[in-house]
Amino acid sequence: MDTIHHLFNNNRAWAQAMINKDPEYFHRLAAQQAPDYLWIGCSDSRVPANQVIGLDPGEVFVHRNIANLVVHTDLNCLSVLQYAVEVLGVEHIIVCGHDHCGGCHAAMDTVDRGLIDNWLRHLRDIYLKHRDHLDAITALEERLTRFCQLNVIEQVYNVCHTTIVQRAWGRGQNLLVHGVFYSLDDGLLRDLAVSIDSADAISKVHRLVDTHR
Ligand code: CO
Repeated sequence: MDTIHHLFNNNRAWAQAMINKDPEYFHRLAAQQAPDYLWIGCSDSRVPANQVIGLDPGEVFVHRNIANLVVHTDLNCLSVLQYAVEVLGVEHIIVCGHDHCGGCHAAMDTVDRGLIDNWLRHLRDIYLKHRDHLDAITALEERLTRFCQLNVIEQVYNVCHTTIVQRAWGRGQNLLVHGVFYSLDDGLLRDLAVSIDSADAISKVHRLVDTHR
């Protein structure tokens, strides 16, 4: 039987290396986590949050799912968001998408994959919203990349539309929501220039806090 024994060996070597660098490392982390960032990213094994932004354990709170979606009825994602904002007091929420995303790619074809199609359905809705723009891009790889980027932007707004983020802004908490894009081709993270720090930037339809009293 194949085992995961080698993973325990890896772990022991890693823990020892961390202690060699900083003998108090684990004691300090066990006492408290105080990350400044919440990362909402794709489950894709090629986009590990901490490595991509060069942060150690304890420095970024992470939620990942297929295609980095923020669905307003997803208790898992919303609970992570609430804890990050209200208890940890993060100042930055980073929604990160990436090129060659299998979730976005699957949402562009007509294959029946069963249960997961219910999740990918959110992506199909986004495609439909931007259909004219996306269909006009003839190169498939380029269209997929643009779709992945538009998805990030939509998810940034989905974060902003939550009661959690709007309440935080309403009580004057500093909170910025960013959309970034990671490229598997060169390992670089790019800013999609959709950083939002107040309800002023979201549609009136979604606003829960009146900022113009
Ligand atoms: Co992905």
